[in-house]
Order: sequence, then structure tokens, then C-alpha cells
Amino acid sequence: MDELLKNILDRMEGFVPSDKTELESFKVQFLGKKGEITSLFGKMKDIPAEQRKDFGLHVNKLKEVAQQKIDFYFEKFENELFEEKSKIDFSLPANFSHDGGRHPLSIVTNKIYDIFERIGFSVSYGPEIEDDWHNFSALNFAKEHPARDMQDTFFVEKDPDIALRTHTSSIQVRIMENNKPPIRTICAGRVFRNETVTARSHCIFHQVEGLYIDKKVSFADLKQTLMYFAKEMFGEETKIRLRPSYFPFTEPSAEMDISCDICGGKGCNLCKYSGWVEILGCGMVDPNVLENCGIDSKVYSGFAFGMGIERMTQQLYKTKDIRMFFENDIRFLSQFNSFNA
Ligand code: PHE
Repeated sequence: MDELLKNILDRMEGFVPSDKTELESFKVQFLGKKGEITSLFGKMKDIPAEQRKDFGLHVNKLKEVAQQKIDFYFEKFENELFEEKSKIDFSLPANFSHDGGRHPLSIVTNKIYDIFERIGFSVSYGPEIEDDWHNFSALNFAKEHPARDMQDTFFVEKDPDIALRTHTSSIQVRIMENNKPPIRTICAGRVFRNETVTARSHCIFHQVEGLYIDKKVSFADLKQTLMYFAKEMFGEETKIRLRPSYFPFTEPSAEMDISCDICGGKGCNLCKYSGWVEILGCGMVDPNVLENCGIDSKVYSGFAFGMGIERMTQQLYKTKDIRMFFENDIRFLSQFNSFNA
């Protein structure tokens, strides 16, 4: 019997597993259910009583040796695996991740929201496909007004007319119809006009329009609000100028210019040597419009203004061609990544 035990011990000691699979077979061979050591325990009953204790001790010792060997190599293999995984080659090029950036039009729109939210304006949205009432009639457009012409408007259906909205003033109508003054909101979104696409104009562009209705709102309030906006948007030094103009839905109406921030008013290419750049239309809401929307024009008055975001963005970032905003060319867009809004 001693021979057998000695033989098992020798084979175990001589065994050096090269990986986990070999270690596993070793475990099965010696300590498995039918393993060599396990089956020795079954032989206990055949051993003469006086040798049994000694035999038991030896077999237990063998079991211990086997287990130690298994534990030792198991840990060794685990450590090797861990080291392999955590090896870092610092000479390899890094994986650069590119941050996404905001579109320049979004940056400018958010800036406008921010400026008006600070003085209590909310932001409103409305549908891009509009009926004649919200886009034209409620806003005092006479039936034969040229802006209704097929030239300018993308009609979806005729009689009754359904069209892609030509301005975000349609949202203002919806706001007036559904809310009681005081109303203080800016309306933002895409608008559509059937125009030839050039460096300066596009058939799709974005507008932000403002509306303020309350008791005793005056032209002085409008001017002050726009002055605040121009300075916040373009810098403290910015001057504004209001020129008389015409819109069907405002009376009186005006167009606002800002002093050209490129030449400081001296005259340059961008301001066509006038020192001024036109940025928005505005005026006092026509009493007819208030009445059309269910607001008593004897009690309430209000002002409205509207601006094109592309024009504003071109002025701020000196981009020459409006088409760049719609091409999604990453070489163009990535230049705005460092601006945050
Ligand atoms: N809706 C006008 C446009 O699209 C802009 C505007 C809005 C003018 C409000 C005056 C008042 O050009």
C-alpha cells in the first residue's frame, strides 16, 4: 500500500500545469468523485485495523498536497490573466473622441431666448403647416396682398388655403386667441418662402418674433426693449436706428438697424458702406389684429417684432453664404464647437 501512496505523491509533485484546463484535469484525476485519492478513502475498510489510522493520515496528507497545488496554480493563473488585461501600451495613439457641437443657428436662437427670458418673455411654438386665417387673414393681410401670391407662399392646398407658414407671426395669432393679456412671449421656428436660393436668401429660414400685449404698452416700450436686446446681443456699444416701414399687422411699423459692428459705423462691405445693418421688423400691433384674435383693442395695446435668425447669425459670425447653414458640412459646423450656449 505504501508503494501506491508514494506513487501518487510522486506523480503529483512532478506535475506542473501549463494552464487552467490542465489544472482542472489534475483536480478530476486526483480529487474528483472517482479520483485516485478519493477512491483510497473507499479502501479504508480493507486495511487491517491496526494500520487503518496511519493509512487515513497518509491519505489525508495526500489530499492536502493536491489541494494546495490546485490553490497555488489557480491563483497563479488568475494573476497572470489580470496582468495581461491591465497591460497598457503607452506608445499607442490615443482614441480621440470628438465632442458634438451646437449648430450656429441653435447657438444664436438660444442666445435670443436667453435675452428675452431675462425680461419675462416665454417661448412659444406652433404648426409649420398653417391655414389662411393664422398666416394671413387674422394678421390683416388684404385679400389681394402680394405676400399671398404663389410667388412667396408654398401652398399645400387651395380653397380653403393651407400653406407652409411664411412667418412665425402665425404663432402669435394662436397665442392671442388662446390667452388673455398680459401676454409676453417670443415665437420661434422654421418658415418657408418660395424664393430663389442664393448666398443671401433661402426658401427655408428661421425666425424669432416677439409679442407683448398689456394695458398702456407704448412705442417707447418697444424701442426700449429692442435697445436692450441689441446691446445684449451685439455688445454694449451697439446703437439702434428705427426707420418707418410697413407691415399689414402693425401700425405704426418700423425696421430696426444696428450700427455695423465690423466697421464700427464707418462703412464696410457688410453694411454696404452705410454703417448700418438691418436686422428686424417691428411695430405696434394693429387694433384690427387684436380684435381678430378676441382682444379688446380699447383696453389693450401691444408691440410685436420679428427677426431672421440666419441674418443675425451671419452678422454675428461673419458667414458670407446662407446656404452653409443647411449643408451640414462638418468643416463648417466644427468651427462653432468652442461657442457654448
Ligand atoms: N412677420 C414679419 C416678417 O416675417 C416680421 C414682423 C413681425 C414685423 C412682427 C413686424 C412685427 O417679415
